[in-house]
Amino acid sequence: MNKKKISIGVIGIGRIGKIHLKNLFNHFKSIKIEAISDTNEKLKKLCKKYNIGKFYKSYQDLIKDKSIDAVLICSPTSFHSKQIIFAAKHKKDIFCEKPVDLSLEKTIEVLNIINKNKVKFMIGFNRRFDPDFIKVKKMVDEGKIGKVQTIKITSRDPNPPSIDYIKNSGGLFIDMTIHDFDMACNIANSEVNEVFTSVNTINKKIKKAGDIDTALTTLKFENNIICSIDNSRKSVYGYDQRIEIFGSKGMCGIDKKNNTNTFLINDKKIKKSFPKDFFITRYKDAYINEMKEFVDCLINNNKPSVGIEDAVNSIRIAIAAKLSYKKNKKVELKTLY
Ligand SMILES: NC(=O)c1ccc[n+]([C@@H]2O[C@H](COP(=O)([O-])OP(=O)(O)OC[C@H]3O[C@@H](n4cnc5c(N)ncnc54)[C@H](O)[C@@H]3O)[C@@H](O)[C@H]2O)c1
Repeated sequence: MNKKKISIGVIGIGRIGKIHLKNLFNHFKSIKIEAISDTNEKLKKLCKKYNIGKFYKSYQDLIKDKSIDAVLICSPTSFHSKQIIFAAKHKKDIFCEKPVDLSLEKTIEVLNIINKNKVKFMIGFNRRFDPDFIKVKKMVDEGKIGKVQTIKITSRDPNPPSIDYIKNSGGLFIDMTIHDFDMACNIANSEVNEVFTSVNTINKKIKKAGDIDTALTTLKFENNIICSIDNSRKSVYGYDQRIEIFGSKGMCGIDKKNNTNTFLINDKKIKKSFPKDFFITRYKDAYINEMKEFVDCLINNNKPSVGIEDAVNSIRIAIAAKLSYKKNKKVELKTLY
C-alpha cells in the first residue's frame, strides 16, 4: 500500500527559510514540500526551482491548507508566536526558528497552546545538532572530564545584521546569545540560577537603535557550574565559535572551524586559514541534522528533543541578561515570571 508522504509548508523564505527549503528538497525524499508562503511575491519563483505546487502570500492560507501536515516557521521573530498559535489551532506540527517571542509571558502562552492542541513542536536551536557539539556533549555526559566546573563560550558574528533587523530582533541577548544560553544549559544539564552581564557598544548605529554589540555574560547553574559567554556582533576575522569545558578530570571543547585545516609555518611566514565566514557555512551540517530530527519525529510520531520548554528556558535567561546590564546587577531567575 502506498502511504501518503508527509506534506510540509514553509513560511518565510529569507536567509534561514532558504536554507531549510534547500535542505528539505535535497535531503528528504520521504516528505513533500506542499507550499511556501512569503509576503514577498517575488519569491514565488522558488516554486519552480524546488518543484512546489503552491505559493501563498498569506501564512493563514498556507496553514488552512488541509493537505499540509506540518509547517516550518522562518518568518521574522515578530510573527512567530501568532503563526505558531494559528498553526497549533489548525493541528499542524511545527518547527519554528528561534526565538518564539520577545516576551516570556507570550512564550509561556504559546507553550500552553501547543500542549493543549497536542501538536509537535521543535525550536531551531541548530547548534545542538552540530556534529562537534554532539561529540563534546557525549564526552561530558560520559564523564570523560569528570565533574564539570566551568564552561567558556565564545560566540562572535562576522558582521552585525541590518539596523532594521536589530530593531525588531529583541537585541543581542534574545537574538544571538539565546543560542549560547541553550548550548550552556544543554552541556551543564542544569538550570540557571543567576545571570550577570557587562556590555559595551562600539557601533554607533547599533547604540542609536538601542542595542549593544559586545557582551560578557556569567551564568551560575543550580549544580554550581559557572559559565562565561563572550559575544560580539562584529569579528573582523570571521565567524568565531568556540567552547571549552573544564572539569575535575580534564578539559574538552571545540575550536573555531576554519575554511581549511591546513597550515604552513616556515622561517618567513605563518599561513593559516581564516574561520568560516558565517552560520550558513559553519553550521551547514547542523541545519541538515536538525531537519532530519524534525522529519523523523513527524514520520515516527516522536517528540522532538528540543522543544517549547527549551524556548521558554532560553528566553527567560535572555531577559534576565538584558535586565542585568540595565540594572548593573546580577539577576536571579526565580524573580522572573
Ligand atoms: N537558527 C539560526 O541559525 C537562525 C539564523 C538566522 C535567522 N534565524 C531566525 O529566523 C528568523 C528569520 O530570520 P532571517 O534572517 O531569515 O530573516 P529574513 O528577513 O532574511 O527573512 C524573513 C522572510 O520572511 C518574510 N516575511 C515577512 N513577514 C512575513 C509573514 N507575515 N509571513 C510570511 N513571511 C513573511 C520576508 O519577506 C522574508 O523573506 C528570525 O526569527 C531569526 O531569529 C535563525
